[in-house]
Amino acid sequence: MRAIHVTEFRDIDDISMSDVPEPSISADQALVRIHAAGVGFVDGLKVRGLYQTRDKLPFIPGSEFSGVIEKLGDNVQGFAPGDRVMGLVWNGAMAEKAAISATALEKIPDGISFSAAAAASANYVTVTYGLTEQGKVQPGETVLVLGASGGIGCAAVQLAALLGAKVIGAASNDEKCAFAREAGAHETLNYGDPDWRDKLKDLTGKRGVDVIVDPIGGEIGLLAFRHMAWGGRFLVVGFASGDIPALPYNLPLLKGASLIGVDAAQLRLHAPDLRAKAVAQMMDWLKTGALKPIVGGEYPFAQYKEAFRALRGREARGKVILRLDDAGDRS
Ligand SMILES: NC(=O)c1ccc[n+]([C@@H]2O[C@H](COP(=O)([O-])OP(=O)(O)OC[C@H]3O[C@@H](n4cnc5c(N)ncnc54)[C@H](OP(=O)(O)O)[C@@H]3O)[C@@H](O)[C@H]2O)c1
Repeated sequence: MRAIHVTEFRDIDDISMSDVPEPSISADQALVRIHAAGVGFVDGLKVRGLYQTRDKLPFIPGSEFSGVIEKLGDNVQGFAPGDRVMGLVWNGAMAEKAAISATALEKIPDGISFSAAAAASANYVTVTYGLTEQGKVQPGETVLVLGASGGIGCAAVQLAALLGAKVIGAASNDEKCAFAREAGAHETLNYGDPDWRDKLKDLTGKRGVDVIVDPIGGEIGLLAFRHMAWGGRFLVVGFASGDIPALPYNLPLLKGASLIGVDAAQLRLHAPDLRAKAVAQMMDWLKTGALKPIVGGEYPFAQYKEAFRALRGREARGKVILRLDDAGDRS
């Protein structure tokens, strides 16, 4: 089967598509024919060996997946061959087939495409947890989303709006702001504009912002923190800019505000019940049609280098998806 098989830490441009044996499954696993895999910022770091934890070589990247069950281990209950499934694994989704633990599988609700299902598997769960458990967003509160046209950003715009917040989508240019508005932002803010903080003041008045979602790091978030409302919650989700900022302690003190980390990977380890709650909530929104995950770009599997480049080049809008069913069922 075709797979992106990482045998040395390298740039994705230097990694060729490989032909590797199909995985075998244990009694608790399912063999899933992968139809779509999400391309995340983290995948680009993992293949270069630059992620916080280095993977053991060799490995197949790809954590967000959707596909169809081909075979089941003897202990697996509640699923059948032919079921359309989605989920999140540590690695392995950028291959035509993957052996996946049954505990990581969710059935794809009717009407949800393979691409939308793969797009939902990580970012939307992360943001559901972030906004509800960590951010405690209440209807009527103001949520400022930085990097609002990106994968995490779009999810945050959609879900904050779903929770009844007033959403300000912020991005680095007008075209990205327009994308955030289409995703559901009530207002937008172009932080490429030198006067963006004045506009933020105009939008939030004397009160300020209740919750900030920051997947980019760097200076923008630091400056935005100065516009938090009393009791505000600043959610640290990622550092797409490559810069981990240092917040002066006086700012949270003056605002009675909190800086809160949101990390889906550690959640699985430290609070599996909260992760299960976020997954259940997100799946419910999918089933009822309240949530339609935004797929920014779909790339055939053979074009994986272009897909990774879109993220690295700051071009991506919404979630970038690799389609592994190039010639097959595209539903
Ligand atoms: N904590 C978690 O559990 C979790 C889960 C998923 C992802 N993440 C992290 O969240 C971050 C964003 O992931 P994503 O999937 O949303 O990425 P994405 O789709 O590429 O979006 C990232 C956004 O960051 C902004 N950005 C600023 N400087 C950038 C740079 N130098 N290169 C690329 N983008 C830059 C861009 O928006 P503008 O051009 O508008 O500034 C871009 O839209 C990553 O650091 C990722 O590792 C964390």
